[in-house]
Amino acid sequence: MIEVASLSRSFADKKRGVVHAVNDVSFTVAPGEIFGLLGPNGAGKSTCLRMLATLLAPTAGRASVNGFDVQRSPARVRESIGFLSGDMGLYQRMTPRELMLFFGRLSRVDEATLKRRSGELIERLAMSGFADSRFDKLSSGMRQKAAIARALIHNPPVLIFDEPTATLDVVTAGIVEGFILEAKREGRCILYSTHIMEEAEYLCDRIAVINEGRLRTTGTMEELRAVTGKQRLREVFLDLLERQVA
Ligand SMILES: Nc1ncnc2c1ncn2[C@@H]1O[C@H](COP(=O)(O)OP(=O)(O)OP(=O)(O)O)[C@@H](O)[C@H]1O
Ligand SMILES: [Mg+2]
Repeated sequence: MIEVASLSRSFADKKRGVVHAVNDVSFTVAPGEIFGLLGPNGAGKSTCLRMLATLLAPTAGRASVNGFDVQRSPARVRESIGFLSGDMGLYQRMTPRELMLFFGRLSRVDEATLKRRSGELIERLAMSGFADSRFDKLSSGMRQKAAIARALIHNPPVLIFDEPTATLDVVTAGIVEGFILEAKREGRCILYSTHIMEEAEYLCDRIAVINEGRLRTTGTMEELRAVTGKQRLREVFLDLLERQVA
């Protein structure tokens, strides 16, 4: 459902020269699969996810989501995905409920469905206490919940989440993890990034380790343990980071 083939993106940076943020990356994610992208700061995770969300053009290679090419059919790709990133730029004067309605209408969800679905999301994400308060009055975790609700309002078959639990407390992170697992059971395809090893182990069917723009290894947690000969997740990860590209 997600196909990434030799995808690359470089940036011309005045001070650093050419930065190869994503360099010849390939992977696929199937329906009903949770695929985790792990890597240190600056590894290229967000750049990769932004290309898949059509927010950034690749410099080489190609990618498709739900059968649509990100460069040839960006509108169809956007309809197919729920995208979440750390810098969603929520409108300060809107409320979480208004945000959901706004994006639902943009995605042409009919009013009756929109009303029902926004109510469900408010309930399931435990947002009823603040669904009608303006964003400038909310905590970062509350905003993150609202951003998640907004990403799900059009019921997309593919979820692309960039560090969805980064600002969340343990309880709320658990709710979001529950959401991701439920999305998997519903047959959705989930690609997400995280720095939280335990979460990746708990959620992901497969994990890809990315470093300096390059995909180092892809596999199930068991496979990664076998490849590295390490048990502890952090050590598995550190070992994979050291590796040269196969
Ligand atoms: N617009 C840009 N212009 C120049 N360089 C950029 C731009 N966007 C990203 N980069 C560079 O691309 C590289 C990858 O950045 P990216 O944000 O994808 O990393 P990341 O894996 O998401 O890191 P983090 O874990 O910190 O979120 C970094 O070196 C970054 O400085
Ligand atoms: Mg990032």
